[in-house]
Amino acid sequence: QHVTVLCGGDSPEAEVSRVTGRSVAEALGNLYDVELIDLAYDHLPPLDSERTVVFPAMHGPFGEDGQLQALLDKAGVSYAGCGAESSALCIHKINAKATIAESGFERAKDLTFIAKSKPSADIIMASLGDHLVLKPTDSGSSVGVHISHNRYELTAILEQIKDGHWMAEQFITGREMTIGLLDGKAMGIVEIRPKSGVYDFQHKYTNGATEYLYPADINETLACKVKTFAENAFAACSCRDFARLDFIITSDERPYFLEINTIPGMTPTSLLPKSASCIGLGFQPLVRRMVEPAIV
Ligand code: DAL
Ligand code: MG
Repeated sequence: QHVTVLCGGDSPEAEVSRVTGRSVAEALGNLYDVELIDLAYDHLPPLDSERTVVFPAMHGPFGEDGQLQALLDKAGVSYAGCGAESSALCIHKINAKATIAESGFERAKDLTFIAKSKPSADIIMASLGDHLVLKPTDSGSSVGVHISHNRYELTAILEQIKDGHWMAEQFITGREMTIGLLDGKAMGIVEIRPKSGVYDFQHKYTNGATEYLYPADINETLACKVKTFAENAFAACSCRDFARLDFIITSDERPYFLEINTIPGMTPTSLLPKSASCIGLGFQPLVRRMVEPAIV
């Protein structure tokens, strides 16, 4: 069986995706005939639907937003992970939030806008309060994320926003967590504690910059609740095979949904492998399980 691992491209997360791609290719290498292709340098090869399965190890635009998945569907090629419609839904944080309304998770209040017609700081703060997160609706790895505490900071952030679709969201104070799902079933909860400041790009991919506790030290009742909510959200978004859901738990134990990542990072500092390790699944068996449904 041939497995084509696609990575790279020109997304802001291309570099992360290269690391994901190499790790995935290596994990599958003993079992399948694996080819690693970087779409920044190589063209999408002619894929033979009779013998090729694709593992899209691509984060962000094109690879994670359903465009690649739609191309593969059209070519009749089997691939790992969420389908085209589900990918397109989940990459858009606002649409995903609306779709999981019945999952059980709380959702922070938000407001969306496009850069060309930004609302004023006053309008945003009148509806959402002072402490805010601003982020592109459809990026990953914290690319473009800003936090603002007051009108002065918010005005400065808004001035920098030049293009794209954006969201302002109430800042939810609490413990930052994530949970991996495999075949729609929740795995372990991982707590993320950056050693300084916030869990941004640098804290995500620098070894030692963040402390991870897994399984997270939360009470059993809350953990069970979160697992059920995560499985509900996975199903509501019609996810397939695997995903990783990010959330925050407030001091009064309310879990707030942040987003679902349909192609979670698989780098040495990434979270899905940590979540899987809580149920005794190592990196290599995890990657094999991720691709298996596409092969059958
Ligand atoms: N967007 C990054 C790769 C993640 O969710 O892991
Ligand atoms: Mg993300």
